[in-house]
Amino acid sequence: MDNLQLQELLQSMTLKEKFGQLTQITGELYADVDDRELVETGPEFSRHMLENDTLYTIGSVIGASSAKIINLIQSEYLKKSRLKIPLLFMHDAIHGYKTIFPIPLGLSCTWDASVLQKAAEETASELRASGIHVNFSPMVDLVRDSRWGRVMESFGEDPLLSGDLGKAMIKGYQKIREGQITPTGVAACLKHFAAYGAGIGGKDYNTVDMSLREFFENFGKPYEIALEEEPRFVMSSFNTFNGVPVTASQTMLKDILRERYQFDDLVISDWGAVAELQNHRVAQDGREAAELALSAGVDIEMVSTLYLEHYEAIIEQHPQLLKDVDAAVLKVLQLKNELGLFDNPYADESLEQEVIMNAMSLEAAEEAARRSCVLLKNENSMLPLRKEYKNVILVGPFAGTKELLGNWACKGSFDDVVSLAEGLMQADDSLTVAAYETLEDCPKNELDKCDYIIAAIGEHWGLSGEGHSSVKLELEDRQQHLIRAVKNTNLPYSCVCFSGRPLALQDIIDDIPSLLWCWYPGTRAGAAVAALLTGQATPSGKLTMSFPRYSAQAPVYYNEFSTGRPANGSSYSSRYQDCEIGPLFPFGHGLTYTGAEYSNFAISGRKITEDQELKVSFTVRNPSRYDYSEIAILYIEDLISKTVRPTREMKSYQVVQVPSYGKVDVELTITLEDLKYLNADLQRTVEPGDFRIYVNNLDHSLFTIEY
Ligand code: NOJ
Repeated sequence: MDNLQLQELLQSMTLKEKFGQLTQITGELYADVDDRELVETGPEFSRHMLENDTLYTIGSVIGASSAKIINLIQSEYLKKSRLKIPLLFMHDAIHGYKTIFPIPLGLSCTWDASVLQKAAEETASELRASGIHVNFSPMVDLVRDSRWGRVMESFGEDPLLSGDLGKAMIKGYQKIREGQITPTGVAACLKHFAAYGAGIGGKDYNTVDMSLREFFENFGKPYEIALEEEPRFVMSSFNTFNGVPVTASQTMLKDILRERYQFDDLVISDWGAVAELQNHRVAQDGREAAELALSAGVDIEMVSTLYLEHYEAIIEQHPQLLKDVDAAVLKVLQLKNELGLFDNPYADESLEQEVIMNAMSLEAAEEAARRSCVLLKNENSMLPLRKEYKNVILVGPFAGTKELLGNWACKGSFDDVVSLAEGLMQADDSLTVAAYETLEDCPKNELDKCDYIIAAIGEHWGLSGEGHSSVKLELEDRQQHLIRAVKNTNLPYSCVCFSGRPLALQDIIDDIPSLLWCWYPGTRAGAAVAALLTGQATPSGKLTMSFPRYSAQAPVYYNEFSTGRPANGSSYSSRYQDCEIGPLFPFGHGLTYTGAEYSNFAISGRKITEDQELKVSFTVRNPSRYDYSEIAILYIEDLISKTVRPTREMKSYQVVQVPSYGKVDVELTITLEDLKYLNADLQRTVEPGDFRIYVNNLDHSLFTIEY
């Protein structure tokens, strides 16, 4: 259809039909289908009390999957709807649909936009083949507090990296060609706008109280960057901001999202969030809740149906809203048109099997998993396994399990996962591998002939994700005992850890000689991790989120503001009296088996001006037999400024493929723009003065801004 036809379609709609397009419900009312194909991702509450003439005006369905089921729902819907506008199907394929990639926090540790883009491309192909048109991903909420269960869905604590990686995923999902989503692409939904990751105390759905400075400089930045890729949707967040729930906030959704960040596509609420304005106690009833959300700029209401219940009264009282409603409905129609739904609303059921979990997506998932692992510690090179170690015992809750997908694993199945034990056996058939949940389960004769133990530890996947905030980040006692028991065998050993969040390991870290942090690696978990353990590849990931030493050290993050009493040995300094200063493992930390060597540092000048940027160059040498991707990170420190600045800010980074025994020259750029910050009046400004540069953790030089 062309735009004129879409306009005509809009003109032909009743008000109810318009509000129908702005409502999203779950799919069970249209067809009697297997529950497993209808994923519920939020609490149940009274909804869907819809008469038939309302039900068949609805615009989109959440959580339905598989081409067959979706086609069934679509055909039942189209049979009975007056205007026969096809339904849009939306889902949460956060890190894969059927082929599961590492959790986003793991993906971010690759620092490699191309890895995330590829993961998104494969996910989009699977989604589209299954009849799904919109993906509720990526999430770019900045995170600093491991207690929040949803850190697993994030890209960590740095605004620039989070924005860049979000952008890469949007690009991968939408696969835009000539301005249009291609037939194997899906519309991306950037979420959760905004600052949802800053809930007080790391408690999910909690209040956010934040200055605008903090928002624009840090928490808002990732959305601002990712929006450049033009996702078709933005999801408003559950939390309040400056006292107002975002679902009802004109400041957030109009002034900031639309005006300042120039977003002009569709805003969808989070699950039930319009109705929840009553729980926030800013709306006295459903009608007021709907009125507030609509006025704030929430175009589509997810799961609750208050728009449809109260539209007549709302429009009667606020006729000026009709213009916004028409604009939103037109965008919905345009998207349906862009996705080709008016030509063919159905998925090709025969294609689904071909696309899902094909060799290419499994390979991409394995590479992503391998590169997302972070080697946190490797004392006496306890990893990789030496060639002479032939009898290996894997012990711990993760030794033999296939439950390595992580939360939000969409349609991923444990049956498809390569366990760690399977991965090791497949990686090297000269190894004898036995897996036990505890050391007591291991027969004595096995232990007698064992050469090496790998303790497979971590936090169960169900303990992170939405609604899974924790106060205790320490490894559970029985696993700490396991590590000590392994140590007492006097056999060489190392640990691999699976987790959806950074854990607090201070009390056990001295008993762990080598620690490979695997997050939740997804379908190819065991194969990817085994390649690293056996030395077929070297770990190359770097942390994007700092690890607290103890639970009570959270939040902890690298780009803290300077204080009047910087942390030092004195009790009159900004520190905890019973905890060492700084995180256990900082942002940017990650080892390889041999370590890259940096040399030949040079800076193109000592002054930076409007039209003269600075180039920071150096050589990265790889002294090992592995090809790997080294992550070079450049930070700046603004020595003196009118408002307080972070002690360090990451301004540039590059993932450099360095061949075995080879070297690569790297050049990173700093522009005047990179040095700007918000002054006391929240204006972006740059002041003349001195800056220090760090590449990774090394302090290299000072330069001066002059202009
Ligand atoms: C609630 C979550 O906050 C959001 O991330 C998700 O996309 C929706 N539910 C839909 O499942």
